[in-house]
Amino acid sequence: MKIIIKKDYEELSKVAASIIGDELKSNPNMVLGLATGSTPIGTYNELIRMHKEEALDFSKVVTFNLDEYLNIPYSNPNSYHYFMEDNLFKHINVKAENIHIPDGNAENVEKFCIEYDKKIEETGGIDLQILGIGENGHIAFNEPAPTLPLETNITELTESTINANSRFFDSIDEVPKKAITMGIGSIMKSKKILLLANGEKKADIIAKILKNKVVTTHIPASLLLLHPDVTIIMDEDAAKGYLE
Ligand code: GLP
Repeated sequence: MKIIIKKDYEELSKVAASIIGDELKSNPNMVLGLATGSTPIGTYNELIRMHKEEALDFSKVVTFNLDEYLNIPYSNPNSYHYFMEDNLFKHINVKAENIHIPDGNAENVEKFCIEYDKKIEETGGIDLQILGIGENGHIAFNEPAPTLPLETNITELTESTINANSRFFDSIDEVPKKAITMGIGSIMKSKKILLLANGEKKADIIAKILKNKVVTTHIPASLLLLHPDVTIIMDEDAAKGYLE
């Protein structure tokens, strides 16, 4: 596991975007795995800047998002469909037909989950997956649990995640309690993974993962220790516990 520590969020976002940009320049058809949450916004802003100022070309890129809430209208700014359009897609030249986001409103969600993994495989698999991390160590919506499904699945959010995500909603009651998420196996099949973490709130979980050096489904992100090509990019605040 490669660890990059940057001074602050801005620097972290720049490094993440430049890694993605380099990958994209060497493979214009890349399959890019995308994440939501506040962490990747700076990276997306930098990618948008590179598209506008440096002609970074997304016209052949295929994207797969990690997750989406269940039964949320996509006109709701808190839906991940809305988030992606607003924070990235509408600002770059990615083709609409190349964008994939789990459909939390699918008529048959179970069937959708199976097809989502199939589609990822048919494209040749994810070349580079961007990940954030929850304060409890979740990745995508793979929450701490005794066992974790490998494939894309419907999952219940933990109280910790509902609380953390309630900051985006008017009240905690409005936060969806279920979501579709790529499974741990779907994520681990990615050829390369970039895990981004910023802020003090992430310091404890990052320290636990990097210092304990054990894997446990109770910290889903710890499973990334088994992946052959993961880079963690964090700012000094998130690295505090690790550096202590
Ligand atoms: C959400 C998302 C995750 C994200 C996490 C952290 O629950 N499903 O993909 O990594 O929250 O969010 P943030 O980046 O806002 O801290």
